[in-house]
Amino acid sequence: MIKIGDRMKVSIIGGTGPQGLGIAERLAIAGMDVIVGSRKEEKALDVVAKAKEDLSDYDLSNMVGMANEDAAKEGDVLIITVPLAAQKPTLEGIKEFCADKIVMDATVPLETAIGGKPFRFIDLMEGSAAERTAKILEGTGAKVICAFCNISNSHLANIPEEIDCDCLIAGDDADAKATAAEIIDKIPGIKTIDCGILEKARIIEKITPLLIGLNIKYKSHYGGLRITGIPALDKE
Ligand SMILES: NC(=O)c1ccc[n+]([C@@H]2O[C@H](COP(=O)([O-])OP(=O)(O)OC[C@H]3O[C@@H](n4cnc5c(N)ncnc54)[C@H](OP(=O)(O)O)[C@@H]3O)[C@@H](O)[C@H]2O)c1
Repeated sequence: MIKIGDRMKVSIIGGTGPQGLGIAERLAIAGMDVIVGSRKEEKALDVVAKAKEDLSDYDLSNMVGMANEDAAKEGDVLIITVPLAAQKPTLEGIKEFCADKIVMDATVPLETAIGGKPFRFIDLMEGSAAERTAKILEGTGAKVICAFCNISNSHLANIPEEIDCDCLIAGDDADAKATAAEIIDKIPGIKTIDCGILEKARIIEKITPLLIGLNIKYKSHYGGLRITGIPALDKE
């Protein structure tokens, strides 16, 4: 397993949106070195400066902005937080920097990608967005993990409240998943649950439109889930 020290850098590719920035802020507050990536370096710098202003009670000197390519090059672990339509071009643009790295993918294939509803899922040829990422990064040795799909940006932005949700993850490399879980569990309240091989992303990603539908029906922004009744998980 990769040793996680304060110097391990986590890069959020497409980190200027609500999901990526929320993850970046939470991890930076937890003490990790975080790089917020954007297609445009200037936008990343502006977004990071604004985040530091908004969260001036916290020391966010460990959070910086960069162009996605530089962020991918610099980061030891990458987290992909771009819309489905941007997934392929974004990954192709950073592929050369993904070699042997852990790549967490938060992409959810929502119908909004084709002008539809956020509570509907679209089926992808590869089975899931995370498997699509693995296919695009094939040959690089990147260890792709489906992660953060079921954690809403509202929860992430609700600093300093704890996040009352489990983060379901899936991937084919056990060590990579253990490292990913160590990183994710730095966010107060979240418990990471390893659901198994990457193919399980097909199920994990489908939970998100269900939660979005519940948020709409019950006028909330905080729909999430907890897995209960698995004693082995409770002991972790
Ligand atoms: N929002 C949530 O609550 C939530 C929860 C679970 C999972 N997710 C998933 O996380 C991902 C990000 O969600 P989000 O709400 O943060 O998305 P978003 O705001 O629509 O996009 C995030 C970032 O992606 C970049 N981007 C947008 N369009 C692009 C394009 N055509 N090509 C390349 N880059 C583009 C933009 O960064 P730059 O302009 O700076 O390059 C943008 O700030 C999505 O796949 C979503 O399904 C979101």
